[in-house]
Amino acid sequence: MAEFPKVRMRRLRKANLRWMFREARLSPENLITPIFVDENIKEKKPIESMPDYFRIPLEMVDKEVEECLEKGLRSFILFGIPSYKDETGSSAYDQNGVIQKAVRRIKAEFPDAVIVTDVCLCEYTTHGHCGVVKDGEIVNDETLPIIGKTAVSHAESGADIVAPSGMMDGMVKAIREALDAAGFESTPIMSYSAKYASNFYSPFRDAAESGFKFGDRRGYQMDIHNAREAMREIELDVKEGADIIMVKPALPYLDIIRMARERFDLPLAAYNVSGEYSMIKAAIKNGWLSEEAIYEVLISIKRAGADLIITYHSKEIAEKLQ
Ligand code: PBG
Repeated sequence: MAEFPKVRMRRLRKANLRWMFREARLSPENLITPIFVDENIKEKKPIESMPDYFRIPLEMVDKEVEECLEKGLRSFILFGIPSYKDETGSSAYDQNGVIQKAVRRIKAEFPDAVIVTDVCLCEYTTHGHCGVVKDGEIVNDETLPIIGKTAVSHAESGADIVAPSGMMDGMVKAIREALDAAGFESTPIMSYSAKYASNFYSPFRDAAESGFKFGDRRGYQMDIHNAREAMREIELDVKEGADIIMVKPALPYLDIIRMARERFDLPLAAYNVSGEYSMIKAAIKNGWLSEEAIYEVLISIKRAGADLIITYHSKEIAEKLQ
């Protein structure tokens, strides 16, 4: 094998040509922008734990989408803050629920915008868990028809992709069957396949008012120590009919993204979650990191093997990429 001085790695690092050899690239087309749609507000409301991020009033959601489209961002994932909550999360599948109204509103103006909807109950239940609660337990099988119904109501409103995030066993199968029965056999499912019980979601729970009243999510979200288990989760989702798989969070789980990339040929999404965003933003705000750190984080997720990144940094990074 050739070596120094024949080999000089620096030859390809000259300023005018090193860009040619980039192995990973970031494009606004691969970024999915989360939008928190709040039915209860009239003005954009800053999210304290997520600097420069806002809850958007339902009436302004189309304007928010328009701003993103102008920056080259074409896909969105919607989270709802509903006007009412109950034990079973019935506002999640209400045809006049916040997400259903938001999707119709966006689609009426921007039919080509890609709208992904988060399918989960935690924002819509009084207890804040992702499933139905019985005797203090989050019960699996009783939750499935409700998320099936929720996914169908999103598709009926015009959602392009539904994304179940509750980590219930059998959720992809239940949603696939419900969608097919309702005539939505062409609506893809992006499953939060390997979603860890992470500490990095706490700013999101502020933002989406989805904090739980008791216990934690470790009975359904994955144990942070495990990697092989993530492959089993993904494999099951693929068998159940997922069209796109996801690893979440992203930055502390780059190894899982890489493993998933090597094992599965489906499109792979990674969720650069709220805590990852807030951590970087806090350091930038304090002058401890430069803004370039955002790009470095996102490119690390691409390099690990993700095709798509859900990120709160999308607007600021799209501006730079343009
Ligand atoms: C709902 C859901 C959560 C996130 C996305 N969907 C919160 C949770 O599981 O507690 C987290 C996203 C983020 O932190 O950015 N199940």
